[in-house]
Amino acid sequence: MKLAVVISLAAVTTLTSAPLFAYDADWKRGRIYYRSICTSCHVAAPIGQINPSTRVKAEWAAYFQADKHAKGKETVKQYVSKDYRAKIKSGNKAAEKFADVPEQELLEDVKLFLQRGAKDGEAPASCN
Ligand code: HEC
Repeated sequence: MKLAVVISLAAVTTLTSAPLFAYDADWKRGRIYYRSICTSCHVAAPIGQINPSTRVKAEWAAYFQADKHAKGKETVKQYVSKDYRAKIKSGNKAAEKFADVPEQELLEDVKLFLQRGAKDGEAPASCN
């Protein structure tokens, strides 16, 4: 009996020490998110559209690593958060559609789309 308890505890420990987040990112969903949510604000804001192909892959990777949006005033991540989606979903179809998707997944999706769409990516992309 005791041995069984030890073994099951060991199993739990092994499971919980596995990578916390294993997710196969979906660049197509990232593209929808970037175009419908990130870009819709950029075009309304003075900055205008930011085409993925204006930066190389390493620049996008560093951008998300630093996680500083709008010259460091805030994080990039907040814009994939459920809170942000909830705030805009009445006027934004994509935000409504993705309302319940975990933010970590959407973050990975957007990152992958920007890697793909970078100047030196597989498929350099614009915002539209
Ligand atoms: C609520 C509006 C809004 C949303 C949503 C938004 N942005 Fe921005 N973004 C801005 C504004 C405004 C600037 C320009 C800031 C400046 O120049 O002071 C900006 C600038 C940027 C820049 C240029 C570098 C920088 O940070 O200044 C990048 C890259 C960027 N945004 C990426 C994103 C990504 C990726 C998303 C979606 C996950 C996103 N933005 C969502 C408003 C937004």
